[in-house]
Amino acid sequence: MMGTGISSDKIDLLIYGPSKPLIENGFSDQFVLHKYETQPDLERLPAGVAEKLRGVAVTGLVPTNSAVLSKYPNVEIISSFGVGYDHIDAKYAAAHNIMVTNTPDVLTEEVADVALGLFIATAREFIKADKYVRSGLWLTQGYPLTVGSLRDRKVGMVGMGRIGQAIARRLDASLVPVVYHSRNPAAGVSHQHFPNLIEMAKAVDTLIIITPGGASTAKLVNAEVLKALGPRGIVINVARGSVVDEPALIAALKSGTILAAGLDVFANEPNVPEELRAMQNVVLLPHIGSGSVVTRNAMDQLVVDNLKAWFAGKPPPTPVPETPVKGR
Ligand code: NAP
Ligand code: 8YV
Repeated sequence: MMGTGISSDKIDLLIYGPSKPLIENGFSDQFVLHKYETQPDLERLPAGVAEKLRGVAVTGLVPTNSAVLSKYPNVEIISSFGVGYDHIDAKYAAAHNIMVTNTPDVLTEEVADVALGLFIATAREFIKADKYVRSGLWLTQGYPLTVGSLRDRKVGMVGMGRIGQAIARRLDASLVPVVYHSRNPAAGVSHQHFPNLIEMAKAVDTLIIITPGGASTAKLVNAEVLKALGPRGIVINVARGSVVDEPALIAALKSGTILAAGLDVFANEPNVPEELRAMQNVVLLPHIGSGSVVTRNAMDQLVVDNLKAWFAGKPPPTPVPETPVKGR
């Protein structure tokens, strides 16, 4: 795929999704920005603009499917915020010669920090213990010993890519044994690989989920996997809510089929089922894996860098595998 380079004409860009000053301010006066936050907002695009758009900056998890993309026949590049791009129809883009980029690597360590923190908070009951202090109960008796601990656990990683490996490094340093499931063994990873998720779930007591979302991983962690994990089981999900069968997880937590869960992602964000919100054996985070100022700034900058490189006729730094850079 080749961009056409900067011409004397200004380039029309769609900024689609939540407002991000660093992205909006990142473009020079060679660009004309058209800002729309949601799919219904896009209906207000003035007549004649759709045909002029040559690039799209997707600033959040807004659906960028064929229904959206087919309206913009001259778009050359979609520069998406976030490493996960299950909200973008990358197959449609590839078939229509549209480059897609994402923001890998700059968030890897931040998300791995959150995964390990969420695991410890879940096993050692940090949220319940914090409430215990605030309520004054500690004045009458000490907090009960926690059933959960990292000391007697074995973790099965579901996904062992960039972030999975950063989590595994942290677990290695914490002396927690690690194995993993993915479709193919990960290059350069010495931990045991399980091609079969059920077999891995039987061999461990903790799952840390860090795969992409989308059709290939939909409800990968289902009732059968949770049963195989067993009553000591802890599930940590920092991937996408779609990777876990949420009703099956709620049932397993209620019945004692597993012990606890730590969740940064949910099936229908920002809606979190009331049943989960009422449970004591879960820790719930509002999708904050990459959510620090320093890391979000780096992600915003990469959205800008990918788009600007493209229109300068250079290879964008981080294309997704479906749309590799050719001939730049
Ligand atoms: P990555 O380097 O592409 O790694 C993905 C891993 O998932 C690989 O090990 C891959 O191995 C495995 N995988 C993919 N499809 C699978 C399948 N169908 N079954 C089993 N394993 C599968 O991606 P990354 O940079 O580590 O990011 C991973 C994901 O984390 C993102 O896509 C995003 O959804 C999520 N994320 C969440 C947050 C947050 O805020 N909570 C932040 C950043 C990222 P194989 O290809 O061999 O199967
Ligand atoms: C972002 C993420 O918070 O990178 C990802 O895949 O899930 C997070 O870093 C998400 O993209 C929200 O826009």
